[in-house]
Amino acid sequence: MLYRLFFKLFFTPLDAEFAHHIGMTGIRLAGALGITKLARLRKNPRAAVQAMGLHFDSPFGLAAGFDKNAKAVKALGDLGFSHVEIGTVTAHAQPGNDKPRLFRLIADRALINRMGFNNDGAEVVAQRLAKLRASKTTNLPVIGVNIGKSRIVEVEDAVEDYRTSARLLSPYADYMAVNVSSPNTPGLRSLQSVEALRPILEAVLAESAGKPVLVKIAPDLADEDVLAVADLALELGLAGVIATNTTISRAGLRTPAVKVEAIGAGGLSGAPLKARSLAVLELLAKRIEGRIAIVSVGGIETAAEAAERIAHGATLVQGYSGFIYFGPLWARSISRDIAKHLA
Ligand code: FNR
Repeated sequence: MLYRLFFKLFFTPLDAEFAHHIGMTGIRLAGALGITKLARLRKNPRAAVQAMGLHFDSPFGLAAGFDKNAKAVKALGDLGFSHVEIGTVTAHAQPGNDKPRLFRLIADRALINRMGFNNDGAEVVAQRLAKLRASKTTNLPVIGVNIGKSRIVEVEDAVEDYRTSARLLSPYADYMAVNVSSPNTPGLRSLQSVEALRPILEAVLAESAGKPVLVKIAPDLADEDVLAVADLALELGLAGVIATNTTISRAGLRTPAVKVEAIGAGGLSGAPLKARSLAVLELLAKRIEGRIAIVSVGGIETAAEAAERIAHGATLVQGYSGFIYFGPLWARSISRDIAKHLA
């Protein structure tokens, strides 16, 4: 309630990416001052999940793209995310696309972004994670490291680029996520075809020293392509599939078409993604039959919706856009309330 008012008065007039920076700075500051610790939940064993050889205090985590450079992992864990997927990190540091590149569709509780993997690069992020691990910080969330293709690297040379990131980052990751599904790096999503994906996943598996490796897919894949990726994941011994990333679709929005068109290219996230994300989950669940993990993400806003994904076969769930619309106590409320919806 309070956050809604704050959002309306304070964040809405600001450029969305600038507001994100203020939010991140606030979270890091609150973490450093020990304030986020006060939000930490008492552990509820009924919410805990064992998956991929890891322990999660709840099924609910922060999807990739919020903490691209692993700067606020601990504080985000305190805020109720059982896991934080950092990244997307690329082998080469890169600035991302020109601004503005993040937009709110408030009437749809949605976002459109074309960030383009702005990040510090695998070496710098690996050093940051190494320092965090060495600090023996307690109560860290599970840390996933999401990797993608550097923009300057040709699609044909993607395998070695992913390999480099996996080699540098996997020592500090609890799990690795291979992102081949962001719409903002030219050619990236073509890497979801089984022929292109196989050598990338094999390279990441070879560099990840037994750490769980997952692949993250787009909601815009045709159903048969979703199933082909599931079969490949099973064949190669991946730990799971993350579904889904943002969509390039603009169907069914309340925001006026002229406004949506003026925003231009990018991936749409938030409430409008619910239906397709759930449909992809159902497809995957039927094919995978519990053999490997499914991480469901896309349009989740409430504990009931998170529990619904689990009822439909998800092992874990994630959110991003809801954090922007519902504020700093959002993850805590989902992690706290999910157990009663699961029962
Ligand atoms: C994202 N997402 C994303 N995903 C990814 O794999 N790597 C990334 O770098 C990013 N970056 C990113 C930036 C912004 C601003 C947004 C809104 C989203 C996608 C994200 O992880 C998630 O898959 C989608 O946002 C769908 O979930 P929600 O937002 O509907 O809960």
